[in-house]
Amino acid sequence: MANMLRPTLVEIRLAAVRGNLLKLKKTVAPARVLFVVKANAYGHGAVELARLAERENLAWGFGVSSVEEGLTLRGAGIISPVLVLGSLYPFESFVEAINADLMVTIASHDAARQVIAAARSLGKKAVCHMKLETGMGRIGARRPSLLKIYDELAPSGAVAVAGMYTHLSSADSDPEYSAEQLAIFNEAAAELKARGARGLTLHAANSSAATDHPESRFDMARCGIAAYGLAQGFEPAMTLKTRIVFIKNVREGAFISYNKSFRADRPMKIATIPIGYGDGYVRAYSNKADVLIGGRRCRVLGNVTMDMTMVDVTAVREASVGSEAVLIGRQGSAEITAGELAARAGTITYEVVTLISARVPRVYLE
Ligand SMILES: Cc1ncc(COP(=O)(O)O)c(C=O)c1O
Repeated sequence: MANMLRPTLVEIRLAAVRGNLLKLKKTVAPARVLFVVKANAYGHGAVELARLAERENLAWGFGVSSVEEGLTLRGAGIISPVLVLGSLYPFESFVEAINADLMVTIASHDAARQVIAAARSLGKKAVCHMKLETGMGRIGARRPSLLKIYDELAPSGAVAVAGMYTHLSSADSDPEYSAEQLAIFNEAAAELKARGARGLTLHAANSSAATDHPESRFDMARCGIAAYGLAQGFEPAMTLKTRIVFIKNVREGAFISYNKSFRADRPMKIATIPIGYGDGYVRAYSNKADVLIGGRRCRVLGNVTMDMTMVDVTAVREASVGSEAVLIGRQGSAEITAGELAARAGTITYEVVTLISARVPRVYLE
């Protein structure tokens, strides 16, 4: 593979994803698991992981953010239910979604009318989940609107209303607020039932709600981060690694990288590794992150550049061109987690892994 001539790569341990999904499945049962594989499965590779989950019956279906992401799964032969979690626009994309048997999210009157029109134009029933605004403030119809949307969709005969859901904004940090959101959700569910809605799949939980708040599970949990092992009690699936491509010894006073943000205060041995912000190893790691080389923690020196990063290997006598460098994952008994990188860069694990760019090949280990 031509793109493997550079030693920078992501390894995904399928056994970890399998174990995490099995654990989620068991935890939320009898509720189902919707495996959230949007943004290329948070950088882990949506097609490969959806294939694994479908083949081994590890999830009921998949959550994606856009019709494009859904079409990618269908193009790869995925036949399980797929729910598009985003709000669709332009409205022509409803036609594509219905054609590909993607379930769509309806959160406005406009969208309701458009999905009915698209289904009628195709002579094919659309399947939708309505989205309720309960406090996330992103997409969703408030309760009175949601009921009206249901009243438009249900009698149309063109659209099957299969579910109703909401999203908790602070499941991992504010249980009281989550409880308020769930109270609104429960009221809406009761009102829909009173209107005759039957068999709706109700869902509200993301990973942390699914594991920590049983009352949020309803009929389905939409799990992303825990499946990738980036939540407490789950096993990380991703390793990001490369190899040293250049070594030098510098004198005291030498500057390293753009804009002189690091100056050696003693003679140092410095390695250059072929990874940079073009790979999603972001500039915020400059002078902050550590890399594992020879089983030891080595500090990133100076600014991360687009394609290369410099690292202090003064203490690693055996470090030489070709030595392995682990940026996320384990080497020997040492480990750098995505959470550690997130903390150093002032962000969240979701961003650390999702930003790893398409330039980095993903290799799947059984
Ligand atoms: C609507 C929706 N549901 C579920 C998830 C999955 O969340 P998590 O990765 O925390 O499990 C997301 C992710 O952001 C989401 O946007």
